[in-house]
Amino acid sequence: MTTDVTVMQNAVNGGLRPLVRSPVMLGMGVGLSFLMNARLALIFVICAPILGIILALIVHKVGPLYSRQQTAVDHLNRQIQESLTGIRAVKAFVRGDFEEAQFQQVSQELTDASRTTFQNAVLNLPAFQLVMYSCVVLIMWFGGNLIMAGEMKVGELTGFLSYVLQVMNSLMMISNVFLLLTRSLTSARRICQVLEEEPDLEQPEQAESCVADGSVDFDHVSFKYRAEAEKFALHDVTLHIAAGETVGIIGGTGSAKSTLVQLIPRLYDASQGTVRVGGRDVRDYDLTALRDAVGIVLQKNVLFSGTIRDNLKWGSPSATDEELWAACRAACADEFLSRMPKGLDTDLGQGGVNVSGGQKQRLCIARTLLKNPKVLIFDDSTSAVDTATEGRIRKALAQRRDVTKLIIAQRLTSVMDADKIVVLEDGRIHAVGTHAQLLAQDPIYQEIYHSQMKGDGTDG
Ligand SMILES: Nc1ncnc2c1ncn2[C@@H]1O[C@H](COP(=O)(O)OP(=O)(O)OP(=O)(O)O)[C@@H](O)[C@H]1O
Ligand SMILES: [Mg+2]
Repeated sequence: MTTDVTVMQNAVNGGLRPLVRSPVMLGMGVGLSFLMNARLALIFVICAPILGIILALIVHKVGPLYSRQQTAVDHLNRQIQESLTGIRAVKAFVRGDFEEAQFQQVSQELTDASRTTFQNAVLNLPAFQLVMYSCVVLIMWFGGNLIMAGEMKVGELTGFLSYVLQVMNSLMMISNVFLLLTRSLTSARRICQVLEEEPDLEQPEQAESCVADGSVDFDHVSFKYRAEAEKFALHDVTLHIAAGETVGIIGGTGSAKSTLVQLIPRLYDASQGTVRVGGRDVRDYDLTALRDAVGIVLQKNVLFSGTIRDNLKWGSPSATDEELWAACRAACADEFLSRMPKGLDTDLGQGGVNVSGGQKQRLCIARTLLKNPKVLIFDDSTSAVDTATEGRIRKALAQRRDVTKLIIAQRLTSVMDADKIVVLEDGRIHAVGTHAQLLAQDPIYQEIYHSQMKGDGTDG
């Protein structure tokens, strides 16, 4: 986008003035030279179509090349961004040389694309000059003959030539502007593609802006990430969660736990069936209202550049320091925060690199708690937190009685006290029940329980 915008900017900056000036100069030059000597001026009539054809050929050839060149810039940017953001992985896997080779490849692609493009674009100048100076030579030849025959004066020919120069100049400018415009048209098309991209999620005209309570219903919900995918990620899930309930969700890797909860704040829309929050279809709500009412701590969470305070305020822009600290206490983030010399004003660095994994998780939890949502979703959000701290976070959560809590966890201890536990397997609900019920009846739950409880009986 930025290179495309710059290209358009350059076209407007450099092209607008000549675009207005040169047609005027051209018209006046041609008109006056016809007035001076109509027969000599006929030479323009022959030259103009030749110039037009040359310009059309060049534009036709160069237009697609510009778009290839811009794509090569995209590739180069993506390559650099990926290897810089993943710099630690690159080092850990000793892939420096490989990344360098990849960079070589994309930069070579850009070099080649630019070279072919400009090789064609610069032809513009010599081709034009060839035609124009041939035109001058012809005028001198015919003019000379006319002077010899006594039909024209030397002074007249000199005056005529100065108009010819004006016309030549303006034609050169016009052709340059054409090339600029060709290039900026390519960029304009690419910018439009981005601007015209329609979001998949549609909002109704008369959107509901109030979420009544924190109840969540899944009614025969199936979901796949891409319409053309064969397999559903979620299969016919029906589940009722009353407001204020605590629900644990467990299941193997890839059993669609994250997928299930992402449908609640409408990060995706269900492919079949309906998801309801507060008794209404999530598609009826105003997206902002729905997402304000549903707080989700994502599995792959991110903090942003800035201070801890800036990041926490994502949850509630108007929160006072007391509120921030209260949320941090609930998320057990206060203990390390108070040890930091700058406290809430500690700078997190780009992407929150300055805190540990567990600290980051706790800050993300605090950020979500600050929203005071009606539904609170933790997607494996305490995986990097030790069990004792996790217990304290759970206790703090339990005090928020009217908030519906959905907790995805790998450790059974995290969900054992929940009102009900959902066992997912391969995108389907395998069993629902309390800890005691599942332990008595469900083979998968028993297996997880026994594999985790073998140790000292508390933290698996
Ligand atoms: N953005 C996506 N596009 C396409 N498929 C996806 C996407 N995210 C997940 N999937 C697929 O959907 C299935 C369920 O993924 P999901 O992330 O919900 O699993 P999960 O139960 O949360 O696993 P984990 O315990 O590892 O977090 C997986 O098979 C995965 O490959
Ligand atoms: Mg997940």
